[in-house]
Amino acid sequence: MHNVPYLTHMAGTGLHVIIELTLLRSTLPVHTACAYPEHVRRICETRPSTFFTLKLKMTQDLKALVHFPKEYFEGLQAICRHGYEDYLGQREKDVKDAFESFVFCGETDSTLRVLAVGASDGILDIPIIDTLDSKYRSVLYTVVEPVESQVHEFSALVKSKRERGLWMSTNFDFQLTTIEEFLSKTKTRKELGGFDIIHLQHSAYHLPESVIVELYGQLNKGGMLFTMLVVGAWENNYLRISNIIPDSMLLKFAGSSTLRDTLYRRIPDVKIQTKYRKMRFKADECFKEESKDGNLIVNFLVQLHDFRKTAPPEVVNNYMKYLRECCEELNGELYIPADDEDIVVIKQ
Ligand SMILES: C[S@@+](CC[C@H](N)C(=O)[O-])C[C@H]1O[C@@H](n2cnc3c(N)ncnc32)[C@H](O)[C@@H]1O
Repeated sequence: MHNVPYLTHMAGTGLHVIIELTLLRSTLPVHTACAYPEHVRRICETRPSTFFTLKLKMTQDLKALVHFPKEYFEGLQAICRHGYEDYLGQREKDVKDAFESFVFCGETDSTLRVLAVGASDGILDIPIIDTLDSKYRSVLYTVVEPVESQVHEFSALVKSKRERGLWMSTNFDFQLTTIEEFLSKTKTRKELGGFDIIHLQHSAYHLPESVIVELYGQLNKGGMLFTMLVVGAWENNYLRISNIIPDSMLLKFAGSSTLRDTLYRRIPDVKIQTKYRKMRFKADECFKEESKDGNLIVNFLVQLHDFRKTAPPEVVNNYMKYLRECCEELNGELYIPADDEDIVVIKQ
């Protein structure tokens, strides 16, 4: 119950807010009001009534997209098909720079141990592996990914690289499991050598704070934690969806600034470096109700399965209005800003 006065204070003292808080107290567990507390505070400041009214209308029919791997990856592919662009060509360079500048503190001849969390088909890992494989004599690259089709694609990628004589200094260890499960089986891993690099490219959304802290604990001294997550408009979009979906289905991290806040709070004296990138993708399809790709993209943006069919019509309408407001128009086409950010933390 102690969260209610906090939110009341932060949300201002408009009469409608007080009334809605009363409703909220009687119908929902109070902890639902404190997802991403700092960010909810900001939403409350700008739109005092929206947070509470929409939450009250949530329905049991909503299902988290992450539990539907086929649709989840179809959504991602649809976004890529509709011009998901790193339009300043920065991403590969930023990633290579970060991994190139990493200083390995292990013995000269020892193996560099890397953990890739939620790596999917490995496409985003290519610049990382290229950089490390050319720099070190021996790399052990452990991939933890819970979706079988993605692990198969990553293994096929490795095979095709090897057939061309590439990635020969790197040994791959594919773990078809969640990171939570992996960590629970490897509690003593630290004694076996820990990791020198742990990276999470667009996967920390799905992981609880405790896992991020535990991963940091698995790093050797001088080791690097590298994350890439959305920031800006897309992160705000994920914060916004916390208004309409039950907490049990919420992403654990809405984006990079949410993760940054957690790192500052949970890791004493942590030093964080960041790299911000402009990104975008085309949004026209999202506004065509019958468009298959449009619906896949919208589902991904709200992280819900079959959003248009399962959410109450007023929630869908409100969200689509909000999404339209987020769009930027360029040469007659609509774009959704999809900026992202890298975070680098070196373990002291
Ligand atoms: C948005 S995708 C990013 C994939 C890839 N890194 C990329 O950027 O293209 C998120 C990934 O996290 C994975 N994932 C979700 N929950 C996970 C968990 N508990 N442990 C490890 N990976 C997880 C998903 O299967 C998916 O591959």
